[in-house]
Order: sequence, then C-alpha cells, then structure tokens
Amino acid sequence: MSGTRHVLVLNGPNLGRLGSREPEVYGHVSYDDLVQACRAAGDELDLDVEVRQTDDEAVLVGWLHEAADGMTPVVLNPAAFTHYSYALRDAVAQRTAPLIEVHLTNPASREEFRHTSVVAAVSSGTIAGFGLASYLLALQALEHTEPSPPDGSGLP
Ligand code: DQA
Repeated sequence: MSGTRHVLVLNGPNLGRLGSREPEVYGHVSYDDLVQACRAAGDELDLDVEVRQTDDEAVLVGWLHEAADGMTPVVLNPAAFTHYSYALRDAVAQRTAPLIEVHLTNPASREEFRHTSVVAAVSSGTIAGFGLASYLLALQALEHTEPSPPDGSGLP
C-alpha cells in the first residue's frame, strides 16, 4: 500500500551495482534488495517511496530540481558525487522540503577524500555507516524533520 506523501530516494553512481560491487566494502545486499526494503519501509510509514538510481550527474541534478519544484522530501545517496560535485550541492541548496544525505558505509572512517561532503551543509542531516538501515533510518527521520530551506540556522 502506498501512502499519500511522495518521497524520492535518489542514488548516485555505481549504486546500481550493489551486490557485485566491492562486496567486502558494501556487502552482498543488491540494489534490488535496497529498492524493496525502501518500499517496504514506505508502506510501514505510510509514505509513497520512489527509488531511482543514475550514474549521470546531470540526471541527478534534474531529479533534485523536480523534487524542489514538487516540495518532495528526498533521501539522497550522492555516492562519489558527495565529495566533489558543486553542481549537486547547488541543486540540494534549492530544496523546498527535507533532504537527508545517506551512506551505506561511514565515509569518515574511509579514505581521506571521502571525509569531505559538499552536500552535508545544505542537507537536513546525514545518516551514514549502517548499510541498508541508513536508508530506513532516513525514511523514519523524515517524520521528525520540519520542512525548511538551508538558511544557515543549523536547524533541519
Ligand atoms: C557511499 C560512499 C561514497 O564515498 C562512495 O563513493 C559511494 C558509496 C556509501 O553509500 O557508502 O559510492 O556513498
């Protein structure tokens, strides 16, 4: 059953290869498992969860524009774009609803280039390091996040 509140779960490059991609880092959960788990969590939370993945920065930016125009909450795993895409950062900054940055792994405990997130400062918050559960926690967290633009106040 789908709820009425539409939520986009957006995934960046290489996440479509979950399951076969570096399983020693990302585990054996497949992208399809991730989609199913997010949809099931959506049913529990009465959210209409739509999961998408792209390897293309322009497509991801376009989806963020769509979310901004529709005041749609977003759970975003920007993958490698996290660390250097100012285009993505500027698209997230236009958000009109909560946006939670998620990561399967904990980038802070990995290579140094992963320690920087250019989207964190314009997101409502970040959940990282819990595998698939990072997404499920983020969907739950949306319930506790008031809509507000990133105005520098530090509030979500
Ligand atoms: C990731 C972490 C990023 O550093 C990496 O580039 C990814 C996945 C994660 O979910 O742990 O592709 O976002």
